[in-house]
Amino acid sequence: MATNLSVSFTGLRFENPFLLASAPPTESENNIMRAFDAGWGGVVTKTIGLHPVVDVAGPKTTFLSATPDSPNLSIRKRPGTALHSSWNWELISDKTLDWWVPRIARIKKAHPTRVLVASIMAGSGNDQELTHWQTLAKACQDEGADALELNLSCPHMDRVDMGSNIGKDPQLISTVTRAVKEVARVPVWAKLTPSTTDVVVEARGAFLGGADAITSSNTFPSLPLIDPETLEFEVNVDGLISLGGLGGPAILPLSLAKMVQLTQAFPGRAFSGIGGIAEFGHALNYFLLGCGTVQVCTAAMLDHAIGPNIISGLKSGMAEAMERNGWKSLDDFIGQRRDRIVAHSKIRRQDAEAYHGGYEAEQAKG
Ligand SMILES: Cc1cc2nc3c(=O)[nH]c(=O)nc-3n(C[C@H](O)[C@H](O)[C@H](O)COP(=O)(O)O)c2cc1C
Repeated sequence: MATNLSVSFTGLRFENPFLLASAPPTESENNIMRAFDAGWGGVVTKTIGLHPVVDVAGPKTTFLSATPDSPNLSIRKRPGTALHSSWNWELISDKTLDWWVPRIARIKKAHPTRVLVASIMAGSGNDQELTHWQTLAKACQDEGADALELNLSCPHMDRVDMGSNIGKDPQLISTVTRAVKEVARVPVWAKLTPSTTDVVVEARGAFLGGADAITSSNTFPSLPLIDPETLEFEVNVDGLISLGGLGGPAILPLSLAKMVQLTQAFPGRAFSGIGGIAEFGHALNYFLLGCGTVQVCTAAMLDHAIGPNIISGLKSGMAEAMERNGWKSLDDFIGQRRDRIVAHSKIRRQDAEAYHGGYEAEQAKG
């Protein structure tokens, strides 16, 4: 009998805990249908907004790779490289809400047992923008979206009241989440930016506003490298560049560090982990730290646009791990390594008596 990979997360049943993250793999009806056919348990749509979106006049995403026999890192295609990271400055969906609405309905009709999460985004600086959040939320849930993910984390906004600029302000996070919760009949997930000092502060804001789960991380702010020959950024438009977002293998350890801060601070809450996942071993890290689902972007983009091989590896990897360890469901291993992360001074010392966490012995006692 096949191993049962199903999970319950924010009251929703998933056939497996693996979702495509909001990004190019989920930008169209065709991609999302293919993703469900390939076996993804859920999909988060590319973020839907109400403002006009026009992307830069150049590549929106590039991939940085490393060579094993030299320290070279570059987006240039060369033989024998390994993926280091994705870098992007893509905006949210350039399709309108009217374009999305019938498609959400059609996708749900074709795949009623799969979970479709609508990612939405508006501003926060005035009542009209808060109403925009509610308009987006109502439109998507009315068409059958099973949950809403609030994009409080997109790093490319000039607007000071949008994207990761909301995600850096716990009060604004609460206000936006509360506005959506006022109209939501489905679970609301808040997707936070990793680009703050203490993500626990922003998560508290989301939970105070009524969020049912936190999604973390979006991409990390970063720059493409300058080519030492041409002295130009490897990615640029007319020689110019702005900060973009780093994803993929390079952010896996960074995103895990954010995640454990969250799961330790709120052990009873629901978390969806993202960042650098390409195989089950990576996903397992997030589960063992306390995540109930995980999401994938970069690895899926590089695997036939929607990751058919990635999802098949995730599912078989989970089934094998469950059999090997005698686990019946995710409940048997979620959070099992969360409490292994402790203060540095709690780690056994070469000389247990001689170190006091940077304090003098007397100070440490007091
Ligand atoms: C090209 C690109 C576009 C993205 N667009 C969105 C978006 O519209 N909304 C969103 O919430 N996250 C967006 N993301 C972030 C991803 O959902 C994800 O959080 C991030 O890439 C980290 O996951 P990864 O390491 O698997 O790539 C985008 C990422 C990439 C690479």
